Amino acid sequence: MGYIYNFLLCFAMLLPVTVIAAAQPGIIRYDTLHHPVIARQGMVVSQRMIASQVGADILAAGGNAVDAAVATGFALAVTLPRAGNLGGGGFMLVYLAATGETLALDYREMAPALASRDMFLDEAGNVDQKKARYSALSSGVPGTVAGFAYALKTYGTMTLKEVLKPAIRLADKGFVVTWDLAEILKARQDSLTRHPATAAAFYKANGDTYEPGEILIQKDLAKTLKAIAKGGSEAFYSGPIGKLIIAEIQRQGGVMTLEDLKNYSVQNRTPIKGTYRGFEIVSMPPSSSGGVHIIQMLNILEQYPIAEYGANSAKTIHLMTEAMKLAYADRSEYLGDQDFYDVPTKGLTSKAYGKQLASTIQLDKARPSSEIKAGNPLPFESPDTTHYSVADQFGNVVSNTYTLNFSFGSGIMVTGAGFLMNNEMDDFSAKPSVANGFGLIGKEANAIEPGKRPLSSMTPTLIFKDGAPYVVTGSPGGSRIITTVLQLLVNVMDHNMNIAEASVQPRFHHQWLPDRLQMEPGHSSDTEARLKSMGHNITSSSSQGSLQSIMLQKGLFFGASDTRRPGAGAVGVN
Ligand code: DON
Repeated sequence: MGYIYNFLLCFAMLLPVTVIAAAQPGIIRYDTLHHPVIARQGMVVSQRMIASQVGADILAAGGNAVDAAVATGFALAVTLPRAGNLGGGGFMLVYLAATGETLALDYREMAPALASRDMFLDEAGNVDQKKARYSALSSGVPGTVAGFAYALKTYGTMTLKEVLKPAIRLADKGFVVTWDLAEILKARQDSLTRHPATAAAFYKANGDTYEPGEILIQKDLAKTLKAIAKGGSEAFYSGPIGKLIIAEIQRQGGVMTLEDLKNYSVQNRTPIKGTYRGFEIVSMPPSSSGGVHIIQMLNILEQYPIAEYGANSAKTIHLMTEAMKLAYADRSEYLGDQDFYDVPTKGLTSKAYGKQLASTIQLDKARPSSEIKAGNPLPFESPDTTHYSVADQFGNVVSNTYTLNFSFGSGIMVTGAGFLMNNEMDDFSAKPSVANGFGLIGKEANAIEPGKRPLSSMTPTLIFKDGAPYVVTGSPGGSRIITTVLQLLVNVMDHNMNIAEASVQPRFHHQWLPDRLQMEPGHSSDTEARLKSMGHNITSSSSQGSLQSIMLQKGLFFGASDTRRPGAGAVGVN
C-alpha cells in the first residue's frame, strides 16, 4: 500500500499543476483534501479498526467478501457493543461477480406473534415511550445470526467455525477498550446498570468503568459464539441460546416465544435499482425505506445541473432539501414491510414521478412542510447502527448495515448469553402520526402486526459504473441514514470527489417533519444566510452519520472511514 501511495505522490509532483487540478471522471486524483486507504487485493471498512482487520485477514487467507463480511459482523458484535450485535438485525447487499447479480438479504427483526397494533399505547391512548423503547416488549425477533448464517452458507466459501474464530478470541481473551467505548459506557452507566447482566458485562465487579487501554473480556458472549460455531444458527433459534433469550424476555414481561424464534426467516429480496446520469444505483428494498427514497431523490435531482451548482452551495442544498421533504412525506404514507403492505415501489422510484415531483419545487424558495403532503405515485404503476463495506480480489462486494436500533438497543442483556436485545419495535408506527425515537411518523403501512418487520431507514447501497461495482457504501444515523447516503452518492457522481473527500463534506438533513433543515458545523455562514432567505428553518446539528465506504477504480480498492466517529478504520489487503 505504502508503495502505491508513494508512487502516486511522486508522480503528482512531476505533473504540471493545471493537469493535477483538472479532475476528470475515471482519473484517480491525488491532489485531494482527504485520502482514502489504497490496496490492491481487497478492502474492509468498518466502525472498528480491529473488526476491519478481522475481515481483511479473512480476505488475505483466500476468503471471499461474504466470508469477510460475516467475520467482520461477528467481530463488531464483540468490539462495538452499542451497535454490532447478535440480538438485532439488518440488511446485506451481496454482489456476485460470477453471475453479475446483486442479492438483497433482509434479516430485519420481526414482531412476535403476540404483538399487536396498540401494544405501546397507555390507557389514555398515548404512546408509552418507555415501553416502546426500553422494555422487553421493545425487542423484535432478532435476525442477525440467521442473516449471517444464511449469507455464509449461500454465498460464502468458509464455515461458521472459521469465520467465528476471531470474534470468539476477541470475546474470550478480550480486546483493548477504545476511548469512545470507555466514554459511552461512562455516559450510559446509569441506564445500562439497571440490568444486572448488562452491568456485569460492561462494568467491573466493583461498579467501576473501564478506562481506555484496559482489556474488556466477555466470557458469556464467547460461550454464545462458540455455541453458534458448533451448532449453527439452530443453536440460537431453537437451542440453548434461544431458551436463554426467551427466559430473559419473559422474566421482563415480554411476549416473545420460542415459536417466534423458530419462525424467524431471512428474506432474499430483489434489490431496488435506479439510474443517475449514467450510473446504476442498487439499494435495499422494504422493509427498509432506504433504497426507495435514495432512488426517488436521485430521480428528482437528475432534473437539475447539480454539478454546475456546486457541492454544498446554497442552491444545491436547497434543491436537495426540497427533494428530502418530498421523499420523507411519501415515506410516512407508503412505506412499510412489503410482505404486509402493498408498497408502491415502482411508482415511487419511477423517473416520471421524480420529474413530476421536481416540477413542484421552486428554485429559490423553501416550501413549508405543512404545504407538502405525500404525493400520488400510484398512477405510474401499478446515536446507533453500524455499517461496513467489503470488497474482495474476486470482484465480489458486500454492503452491510445492522443495528440494535438505539445505542445498546433496549439495554436488556440476555443473562448467561452475553448479548443485548434490540429495541427495534419502536421503528413501527405505534400510533398514526405520532413520532418515533427518530422523529419519524407513519401510518397504516407501518402499523404493528404479528410477524411484520418494522420499517427501517438503513441504506446499504452500491453504485455501478459501466456494469461493474464502483462504490460500496452505507451509514448509521437513524432517520438521517438515507440523506447521509444520498450526499455521498451526489458527492461522487455529481462532484467527482474521491471516496474520502465525499465522506468528509459537511452534511445536512431534512425529513419533512419537523420542518427544519439540520446543518452540521462546517457550512459557511453565507450559505446558511442564503438558505434562510429562501425560507429554510435552519438548526445546527450534531455530526450526521458515519459512512464506511469503498471505491473500486482501475483495479485498486480505495477505502474511506468517516472521520466523524472515532475508532473506525479501513484495512486493505495487498
Ligand atoms: O432501522 C432503522 O432505521 C433504525 N433502527 C436505525 C437506528 C440507527 O441508525 C441509530 N443510529 N445511529
